[in-house]
Amino acid sequence: MNLQIKSFEEYQDAYKHSVENPEAFWGEIAEHFFWKRKWTNVLNWNFTEPNIKWFEGARVNITENCLDRHIYNNGDKPAIIWEPNDPNEAHRILTYKQLLDKVETFANVLKNNKVVKGDRVCIYLPMVPELVIAVLACARIGAIHSVVFGGFSAQSIADRIGDAECKLVVTSDGGYRAGKVLELKSIVDDALMQCKSVERVIVLTRTRTPVSMIKGRDVWWEDEIKKVETQGNPPCPAEEMDAEDPLFILYTSGSTGKPKGVVHTTGGYMVYTGYTFSNVFQYQPGEVYFCTADIGWITGHSYIVYGPLSQGATSLLFEGTPTYPDAGRLWDIVEKYKVNTLYTAPTAIRSLMAFGDEYIDGKDLSSIKKLGSVGEPINEEAWHWYHDKVGKGEAPIADTWWQTENGGILISPLAGISPTIPGYAMLPLPGVQPCLMDENGQEIEGNDVSGNLCIKFPWPGMLRTTWGDHERCKQTYFSTYENKYFTGDGCYRSPEGYYRITGRVDDVLNVSGHRIGTAEVENAINMHSDVVESAIVGYPHPVKGQGIYAYVIANHHIDEESTRKDILQTITRIIGAIAKPDIIQFVADLPKTRSGKIMRRILRKIAEGETESLGDTSTLQDPTVVESIIKGAEEFR
Ligand code: WTA
Repeated sequence: MNLQIKSFEEYQDAYKHSVENPEAFWGEIAEHFFWKRKWTNVLNWNFTEPNIKWFEGARVNITENCLDRHIYNNGDKPAIIWEPNDPNEAHRILTYKQLLDKVETFANVLKNNKVVKGDRVCIYLPMVPELVIAVLACARIGAIHSVVFGGFSAQSIADRIGDAECKLVVTSDGGYRAGKVLELKSIVDDALMQCKSVERVIVLTRTRTPVSMIKGRDVWWEDEIKKVETQGNPPCPAEEMDAEDPLFILYTSGSTGKPKGVVHTTGGYMVYTGYTFSNVFQYQPGEVYFCTADIGWITGHSYIVYGPLSQGATSLLFEGTPTYPDAGRLWDIVEKYKVNTLYTAPTAIRSLMAFGDEYIDGKDLSSIKKLGSVGEPINEEAWHWYHDKVGKGEAPIADTWWQTENGGILISPLAGISPTIPGYAMLPLPGVQPCLMDENGQEIEGNDVSGNLCIKFPWPGMLRTTWGDHERCKQTYFSTYENKYFTGDGCYRSPEGYYRITGRVDDVLNVSGHRIGTAEVENAINMHSDVVESAIVGYPHPVKGQGIYAYVIANHHIDEESTRKDILQTITRIIGAIAKPDIIQFVADLPKTRSGKIMRRILRKIAEGETESLGDTSTLQDPTVVESIIKGAEEFR
C-alpha cells in the first residue's frame, strides 16, 4: 500500500481497510519508515487504564527518519528555509545534509553536558533554526524535549520545568518578535530561582541583549559548539529507542488545575505525523510548505518539524508575525519563496482581513496550490477570503481538526481530493473512528445530529499519558465515556456524514487559536491581593475567535482602573500576556447555585450580550445578583 492516497476512491478504500483491520493497515503504513528493528505487535490497547502501545518491540530513532534517510538521494535539498523577523536580515537555508550535521553537533553538545537518554530538556527559544536543531538533537540521543512557547512567563516555565524535572534548559539571550525584543534568558533566570533540577543552561546568541551568565550553570551555545569541534566533532549515532519510549512532553491547558504534560512516544507519533502530513497536504517532492504556527505548540512540533521532515519536505520556518512590518508580510514570504502550501490559523486570517485587501492585492500568490487551517473553527467569511484572495478561488482548503493530545490531524479533507464545505473539517482520516455521544453516555447514531465528540479506537499519534500523573490522563480523557477518548469538543454531523466542530464543551477557551484554561486564569487573578473571587468565561471576538471575559469580586473599595491594570500585570507574570482578559468587570457577587457552584452558563450569556435568554435563574442562591451584573456589563457593550 502506498503512503499517499491519490483519489477519493483510494481514501474510501483506505478508510474501510483501516477500520476493518487496523493492525494490518497501520503495519503497512509503518513499512514506509525506517526501523532499526521491526515490531512484534502492531497494537495493544485498552481505554480503561488507559494503556496504549503501538509497534511494540520495535526499535527506531525518529531523527534517522527525518534526516539520515534523506541524505543519500536528497541531501542537498532544503530541509528548512528560515525567514527572519526583520525582512532585511539575511534568510537561511539548511539542506538535509547541513541540518543533520548541525543536529549531530548539538547532540554532542548535549552529551558533553551530561544529558542522557530519558533526561528531560526544556527548550525556550525563538523561532530560529537552532530551535529545530535543539529539538532534533534531543530526539537524536533519546532525551525528552519539553518546548515552552516564548510567550509564557517565568512562572509558567518554572511550573513546567518543575513538573518534568528538567535537567537542562536551552534558551537564547533574546528573541525578536515584530518590533520588540523579548528577554528570554532573563525570563529563564527568574524561572530558575525556583527550579532545583536544572544543572545547565545553554544560551544561544540571537539579539545580543545583555544577559547575566551564572558561573557553573550557564554556557554559550557557540562556545559549546567550538568545544565539540575541537574534540573532532565525531558523528553522533542515533540512539536506539523503543517505539514506546517518550519523545516529548508538551504542556497544554485543560478545564481544571495547572497545565498537564501531554506525553507523546516515538514510533506511533512518527508514523502518524508523517502519514497525515503526506496525505492532508498531498506533499509533492520539490514543493515549499509553510506552516505559520510556533514550535511552542503542537502544530509546530508535528507540522513544521517531524511530519514534513520525515517526508523529506522543505519546511519554511518564520520567526516573525504576519503583521510585521506590515499586514502583507505573509504574502511577501509566499512570493519570495514560491510557497506551495500555506497552513495557518483562522485568527491570523481574520486579523489580515481586517487590515484590508491593499496588503494582499498585487502580491504574486500564483505558487499557492493548497491551503490549511487549524486551531479553531473557521467562520465562513474568513474561509471565503482565504479561498478567494489567497487561494484565488482554486486552492483547496484543508480545515484540519485535532488537538495537542492527538499528535496529528484527525478530521480533515485531503487537499484536492476530498470535498470541502466552509466551516467543516469534513471526514476522519484513515484510522480515526469518531463518534458523537449524548449526555447519558449513549452514542448518537445516524446523521444530522450533534453531540460530544469522542474517538472510539486508538490511532498511533495519540497521547499515552500525562507526565507524572497517569490518573489525570485517565480522568481527563477516558472517564467521561466508557471506552472512549473524549475530546472536549462539540460536533455536528451533517446529513451527508460530514463533521463540523462547534467548539469546546468544557471550560477551556480558544483565544487566537491558543488553548487557555479558565481555572488557570482565575487562579492567577485570585492571587492579586485585592481580589476575593473571580470567574472567567469566553465570548465571541471578531479577530481572536474568543475573547476572555473576567468577572471579579474585589475585597474593598478599589480604584477600578488601577486594579484592572494590576490584575493584567498579575496574569502576565503568572501565565503570560496571552492569557490577559479583554474585559474585566467588577461585580459585587457571582451567580451561584445553593451548593455554591458558579453558574457559568449565565455569565457566558451576559458576556455574549444575550441577556434575554438566561434560562432558569430560580435555583440561584440570590437571583438578584444577575440583574446587577447585567447592569454593570452595559459599560462594555
Ligand atoms: C480547537 C491545536 C475547530 C478544538 C492543533 C480543539 C479546532 C482545540 C480546529 C485543540 C478546527 C483545533 N476546527 N476547532 N480545525 N482545530 N480546534 O491542543 O477546540 O492547541 O479541542 O491543538 O482547538 O487545541 P490544541
